[in-house]
Amino acid sequence: MVAKRVAVIGAGPSGLAQLRAFKSAEEQGADIPEIVCFEKQDDWGGLWNYTWRTGLDEYGEPVHGSMYRYLWSNGPKEGLEFADYSFEEHFGKQIASYPPRAVLLDYIEGRVKKAGVRDWVRFRHPVRNVEWDASTGTFTVSACDLVSGKDYSETFDHVVVASGHFSTPNVPHFDGLDRFNGRVLHAHDFRDAVEFKDKNVLIIGTSYSAEDIGSQCWKYGAKSITVSHRTAAMGYDWPDNWKEVPLLTSVDGNTCHFKDGDHAEIDAIILCTGYQHHFPFMDASLRLKTANRLATADLYKGVVFNGNPALFYLGMQDQWYTFNLFDAQAWWARDVILGRIALPDVAAMKQDVVDRVASEDAIEDDYGAIRYQGDYVKELIAETDYPSFDVDGANEAFFAWKKDKKKGIMTFRNNAYKSVITGTMAPIHHTPWKDALDDSKESYLQNG
Ligand SMILES: Cc1cc2nc3c(=O)[nH]c(=O)nc-3n(C[C@H](O)[C@H](O)[C@H](O)COP(=O)(O)OP(=O)(O)OC[C@H]3O[C@@H](n4cnc5c(N)ncnc54)[C@H](O)[C@@H]3O)c2cc1C
Ligand SMILES: NC(=O)c1ccc[n+]([C@@H]2O[C@H](COP(=O)([O-])OP(=O)(O)OC[C@H]3O[C@@H](n4cnc5c(N)ncnc54)[C@H](OP(=O)(O)O)[C@@H]3O)[C@@H](O)[C@H]2O)c1
Repeated sequence: MVAKRVAVIGAGPSGLAQLRAFKSAEEQGADIPEIVCFEKQDDWGGLWNYTWRTGLDEYGEPVHGSMYRYLWSNGPKEGLEFADYSFEEHFGKQIASYPPRAVLLDYIEGRVKKAGVRDWVRFRHPVRNVEWDASTGTFTVSACDLVSGKDYSETFDHVVVASGHFSTPNVPHFDGLDRFNGRVLHAHDFRDAVEFKDKNVLIIGTSYSAEDIGSQCWKYGAKSITVSHRTAAMGYDWPDNWKEVPLLTSVDGNTCHFKDGDHAEIDAIILCTGYQHHFPFMDASLRLKTANRLATADLYKGVVFNGNPALFYLGMQDQWYTFNLFDAQAWWARDVILGRIALPDVAAMKQDVVDRVASEDAIEDDYGAIRYQGDYVKELIAETDYPSFDVDGANEAFFAWKKDKKKGIMTFRNNAYKSVITGTMAPIHHTPWKDALDDSKESYLQNG
């Protein structure tokens, strides 16, 4: 019998989880399909693979990267640790709880290097189109080998879309922006806070990009930070040169006007207004259309596309949990593909989405949202051989993180939590976050 073929689109944390899941089954003696992972960048790691580039890359492709220099994890590593590969296994010791980007990339890479799956990835091969052929029951995946310039198509029995959803910016317009006498950019193009030293910076939005990019600019010497909200202010106890204002209404030269009639003189505007789920390479009938929420539209168990159950989407939820959630989904999708998990009929799959949406809508606060996503992780891992871990303990790390942020938005990263995988306590980092200007791996790992 000819082996099944599976296409994985993207070699970020979600796609790599899928590769690891299949390798783990193979190591245990299972016959696995042929896996081809298409990755448009020249290396793996997804968003964690930092690039200085913005706009288009050297091949004219849209730059995927949204990460910036000096980015440290915004949540505790104890909430995202792989259950089959602990931080201690990777670094040979326990490390502090909020690693910078380079340290987390090293950890992500460590597991897949050990698994030996790099040969499954075709780097610099963006997928251009995916179509379903009902007569053969296969997908035709068209890609481009950027280095040779060759376009080609191949057929697959399954497609796993793991292309991320924090890369295509959502960019609203504000009256007068076209005549603003300073720099306007979206968070997707933000790379280095040092650029904004001594500047009056206006941030639009109140979610993680707004909070963290504002904090970066503050840390690296911005003169003032003004954060403008559409729905509600963040309400942290901000430093003296930081204020929260209602939504921007118009811009006149360098003067920005806000909904309450107040105004401010601004040098640079950073739109931290979120991202779009954007899959132009999927045929319209296969394209996921969803808001950024915990219960995604049209995905049975948050993974199987209801319009075609041979198609999977990983990591499409809004994210409290990340790496271990992608693992839970990847192991579960693998087991559907291996025939270990049977799918119900379409009506039941659609009802599953309706039920998940209703439960999410009933959530009262962020603590409820964390529990909801933790329960989802539990649900998936209970149905596969992904190593069981103390998800309630990981929830507790997130709860402690939220409380530490309330206590001090510029000091929360100085705290440490207990690993739910190895049971050991993280050390307190050697330097408070606000004073740690060197975010290199070498500096972070110096002790601890
Ligand atoms: C600024 C920022 C900071 C973040 N910080 C944290 C954090 O501190 N902690 C945390 O846990 N999470 C964080 N996240 C969340 C982040 O979404 C996840 O950590 C993780 O990167 C998601 O993995 P992914 O594989 O789903 O997507 P991505 O990391 O986006 O990877 C998708 C991959 O698919 C590839 N790709 C896309 N389109 C194609 C195509 N057509 N063909 C071939 N390849 C393609 C891309 O090149 C990329 O390599 C952050 C997100 C952002 C934007
Ligand atoms: N250090 C880090 O680890 C770090 C740093 C940055 C980002 N991230 C991650 O990146 C991901 C994306 O976060 P994000 O903050 O970019 O996106 P997001 O969570 O989707 O938030 C989007 C924000 O934009 C606002 N917004 C959208 N449209 C608007 C409009 N027309 N006018 C005004 N405001 C508008 C929203 O306001 P409303 O509330 O009014 O809708 C919301 O505050 C998250 O997973 C986050 O964890 C991590």
